[in-house]
Amino acid sequence: MSSADAAVEKGAEEEPTLELGVETADLAAVPLRVDGLEKQFGGITAVDGATFEVERGTITGLIGPNGAGKSTTFNLITGFHRPDAGAVYFDGDDVTEDSPHTLARKGLVRTFQIARELSEMTVMENMMLAPKGQSGEQLWRSVLPWTRGGVRAQESENLERTWRTLEFFELDHLWNEYAGNLSGGQRKLLEMARVLMTDPQVVLLDEPLAGVNPSLEKRLLEHLHELTDLGYTFLIVEHDMDVIMQHCEHVIVMHQGRVLAEGTPADIRDNEEVIDAYLGDDL
Ligand SMILES: Nc1ncnc2c1ncn2[C@@H]1O[C@H](COP(=O)(O)OP(=O)(O)O)[C@@H](O)[C@H]1O
Ligand SMILES: [Mg+2]
Repeated sequence: MSSADAAVEKGAEEEPTLELGVETADLAAVPLRVDGLEKQFGGITAVDGATFEVERGTITGLIGPNGAGKSTTFNLITGFHRPDAGAVYFDGDDVTEDSPHTLARKGLVRTFQIARELSEMTVMENMMLAPKGQSGEQLWRSVLPWTRGGVRAQESENLERTWRTLEFFELDHLWNEYAGNLSGGQRKLLEMARVLMTDPQVVLLDEPLAGVNPSLEKRLLEHLHELTDLGYTFLIVEHDMDVIMQHCEHVIVMHQGRVLAEGTPADIRDNEEVIDAYLGDDL
């Protein structure tokens, strides 16, 4: 037996990278920080000096009336828009100029609605096409040369990881279904499953529960809590205040492009300025 085969056998026994989860021991307690973010569109100031932090292992809510700048802030954080001023820090590094692709490789991602092309592919194809994260590959590279055995191990690892992730989201029985045939809620689960294939640390979710029926919503929220227990961090924009109040450790309120208030759900609920900001909007 060659040493490469031996390494494959050993690796297969130990299954070092197949589990969902973030190895958090050496990571900063605050993975994401934005400082003085500004963004203008023509004459409109969409984001006007937003500054906040997101703590690791939390579900942090980003709320505010329509037009407050939440989606633009998400796009600034994940590299889809360039800020006019301010900075984004990920794990302590300034990543303001990074592309979405680079940020995804570092572990900072947002979910996207399954696009039309992807709805014409099966659930399994959607999963296999998700961009792959780096930590698993690096681990394999460190023990394996790029021999045939190494490539085979990599492929079977991807497949194994795909199945585990589909099982986690209870989508495994739908593996051969076209994504376009899934219910709205199942599609949301698939969006989450796809994003986990990128090995993220911090995941931004823009209205992940829109169109999801109550029982699936409950399950999705349970999954989010299980994932934070595994070390993942979520920043979530959600209009349903009951969800924010019951499921977020920390809530950041944006209004007119800035952070108006932040704190625990109880702090936010009783904050007069927050109540005023929402007057005339459907809280
Ligand atoms: N691409 C864009 N072009 C022009 N104006 C935009 C664009 N994106 C957002 N805006 C404007 O910026 C403001 C903030 O929008 P947005 O970030 O979508 O708020 P939210 O997600 O909190 O509802 C709004 O006034 C919106 O009309
Ligand atoms: Mg929005």
